[in-house]
Amino acid sequence: MASEGGGAARPRVLVARRVFPEVVARLQVHFEVDARDADDPLPPAALAERLQGCAGALVAGTERIDAALLAACPALRAVCSMAVGFNNIDVAACTARGVLASNAPGVLTETTADFGFALMMATARRISEAEHWLRAGQWRHWSVDGFAGADVHGATLGILGMGRIGQAIARRGALGFAMPVVYHNRRRLEPADEAALGARWLPLDELLAAADHLVIVVPYTAETHHLVGEAELARMKPTATLVNIARGGVVDDAALARALRERRLAAAGLDVFEGEPAVYPGLLEVPNVVLTPHIASASLPTRRAMAGLAADNLIAALTGGTPPTPLNPEVRRPDIGR
Ligand code: 8YV
Repeated sequence: MASEGGGAARPRVLVARRVFPEVVARLQVHFEVDARDADDPLPPAALAERLQGCAGALVAGTERIDAALLAACPALRAVCSMAVGFNNIDVAACTARGVLASNAPGVLTETTADFGFALMMATARRISEAEHWLRAGQWRHWSVDGFAGADVHGATLGILGMGRIGQAIARRGALGFAMPVVYHNRRRLEPADEAALGARWLPLDELLAAADHLVIVVPYTAETHHLVGEAELARMKPTATLVNIARGGVVDDAALARALRERRLAAAGLDVFEGEPAVYPGLLEVPNVVLTPHIASASLPTRRAMAGLAADNLIAALTGGTPPTPLNPEVRRPDIGR
């Protein structure tokens, strides 16, 4: 394709949702950029329409990139997400079409682990519940067991999903709070890594029964859909807490709401919800749950780093470079970026 000046036309890319201006500016050095300035994700048909003629897209965890979308957007060569979770991207479909897909691992690990730990502490120590009560003007007296919760230090920390973020949470628990750590993961850690964290692998059933505080950090896949439901919750101690910072859908929110209402589980902290931004109504009705709007990675430096890494991937993918964090590195088409 030739531009008016006779040189090669610059590839066109879509920034599918509002990101930081400096990220858009970096992309503009290389591409014709259509940058949306909105926080609502485009529905599939509108996304496909907006992507017409685009060689690349910078997305978040909210845009569905599947075979139908790829078929509707034949010019697409790279889809780069600023999220680490990539359940919204059909990587096999991307590979089949020669579309480079990337996510954003690493840059959000510590920030997300901070939040997971904070949510666990808020849940165990009933911070949200107590604040709502105070704001409602109900504080008249000190009471010997008022908002008495569970201790975090020294309690058994259960981690479901021991990837980067799971290990960062384990470090906080083991080294900062003297917590024995037990975990379940498809792959066990290397013995040296287990030893460094004092972490012990357990089958899922035993992990559920052992944990005083369970933190869920597994990727969302067909296998992990409702991994924690009625039967799994029944295995947990009634004094235990559960925190989900992974994805909505890993936990059966309806079963969780019932367990919380019936005090078969002491409390929960949830940053993610099945069908978010909708929240299962039963969860809004119980006091013993801390609810946050999918903000585990939300520190400004980290969100900048996530968007920056997505831009790095997009620039490399479309200019003949090597994308730093590809999901399908086997896609290196000779006609890209040449
Ligand atoms: C993102 C996340 O904020 O990275 C992930 O997988 O869940 C969050 O950090 C979110 O997905 C952006 O859409």
